[in-house]
Amino acid sequence: MNREPIERAEALAPDDVRDLRARLLAAGYTLDAVLERIGEAGQSGLLRNSTVPAEVAIAGVADPQATLIRLWLLQLRVSEVAAAHALDLSPLLDAGILRRDGDMIRAGVDIRPYGGDQPVRGESDSGWVVSDLAPGMNQVTTPTRPDYVLGVSPASTSLAQLTARRPVGSALDLGTGCGVQALHLGRHARRVVGTDVNRRALRLAALTAALNDADIDLREGSLYGPVEGERFDLIVTNPPYVMSPPTTDAARLTYREGTFGGDGLVRAVVEQAPAHLTDGGMLQVLGNWAMVDAVPWQERLASWVEGTGCDLWVVERERLDIYDYIEIWLTDAGLAGSPLWRPRYDQWLDYFSGLGITGVGMGWLTLTNAHRDQPDIEVESWPHAVEQPVGPVIARRSNAVTAATLAVGDLLQGRWRLDGSVSEETIGEPGAADPAHVVLRSDTGLRRAIEVSTLTGGVLGACDGELSLGGIIGAVASLLSVPVAEAIAETVPLVRRALREGLLVDAGA
Ligand SMILES: C[S@@+](CC[C@H](N)C(=O)[O-])C[C@H]1O[C@@H](n2cnc3c(N)ncnc32)[C@H](O)[C@@H]1O
Repeated sequence: MNREPIERAEALAPDDVRDLRARLLAAGYTLDAVLERIGEAGQSGLLRNSTVPAEVAIAGVADPQATLIRLWLLQLRVSEVAAAHALDLSPLLDAGILRRDGDMIRAGVDIRPYGGDQPVRGESDSGWVVSDLAPGMNQVTTPTRPDYVLGVSPASTSLAQLTARRPVGSALDLGTGCGVQALHLGRHARRVVGTDVNRRALRLAALTAALNDADIDLREGSLYGPVEGERFDLIVTNPPYVMSPPTTDAARLTYREGTFGGDGLVRAVVEQAPAHLTDGGMLQVLGNWAMVDAVPWQERLASWVEGTGCDLWVVERERLDIYDYIEIWLTDAGLAGSPLWRPRYDQWLDYFSGLGITGVGMGWLTLTNAHRDQPDIEVESWPHAVEQPVGPVIARRSNAVTAATLAVGDLLQGRWRLDGSVSEETIGEPGAADPAHVVLRSDTGLRRAIEVSTLTGGVLGACDGELSLGGIIGAVASLLSVPVAEAIAETVPLVRRALREGLLVDAGA
């Protein structure tokens, strides 16, 4: 008899996990090999939730790799003979990872190759992530179950790319879901804790961890409840930030909706973080926040860290009007084409109207327990293209702020260097003697740019880490016959900005 999947997923014994991993490797069910097998059309198809191009790519073949692709990537039924050729069926059926469907076998949960930065004991560059089956394949919409465990989503990838990947002692993945962030953290943190309110998620995360031979301490509970009294060097979270109307437990989608009103859950994650960060520790959140008419959004978000002494850097990447936002999440819940669409839509509109929500911001929040006399609070919109991964820029942020806020005397004594990613762009009329604009632009991270004058461009261009800033300003001022005090007054604000935005870095660092 097949019981409900997941309920017994943790029952996969260590030997069975080892056997499964060996068989996945032996079959070539690894990231690069699978991508190559289904080809570019197959990959693009899956991004559109269409399995047909990949099915065509492996049509008529029944080797173990093709069988595993059919089972898990394409959610197709396979014959028991083919499945048994690739896998040891009994423990997998017993654990609900596979299920019987008549005389065929199908997947009970999703196991898919993942990422190149999580080698499994040097055996392969690929790891695997275990989650619930992807919904909405081939236009079949089924209502999503409340305790659904989401696989690796675009939001998971964004958070992974913006995480500061410095070696740390301890890291927390709050709301671990399928365990994908915890897997990444395991690469650079000595100790990783993953928490979730959803017991199914913890079971699947445990299987993800076991398959990848990753040591993750998984705990059940809400927000920081499971880590009371503990502090971490790094906390990452992609919490259930969707601002949906309150609903019954049975109808709430745990992976995306909390029990807090509006953006209350994201706010709680931020407000409670300082008590769980070590000195210099960092919280990184991928989240949504409400635009309300009563208070400018920048002020609302800044107020979340008031009195904590922590730095806050918020980068709004996108803003949606409420209609766009509601339609995205009604579709995500599988309600497109359903008679429930319009009543639910109206329910969301009433809810937003009651809370005064007029729009929704989406982006990144970074909180750093920096212990400055004057915490650094920056809340900005940056909807422009960025160069991923952004993590390295975020990792350098705290030092960048320290340099950017030095007293003028220290700034002038400092030896700064233009970052290697910076190049100069000139814009002007063809044939003109001088360009109308000269811009220094970094081609990494947030792709920041600053416009410079002849004086400031000369100063920044000469920052090679050898001479002090004061020495460079003096030399350039003399070349351009500008009084040094004037040159300092013009240059210092731009140098501060270039340091803060990572175009200029400490030559000694
Ligand atoms: C959007 S998923 C993110 C999963 C995974 N971390 C990722 O990056 O893909 C949010 C996760 O938070 C969990 N969650 C929901 N409410 C929570 C709460 N109050 N405290 C902790 N986790 C919660 C959900 O069960 C879900 O697994």
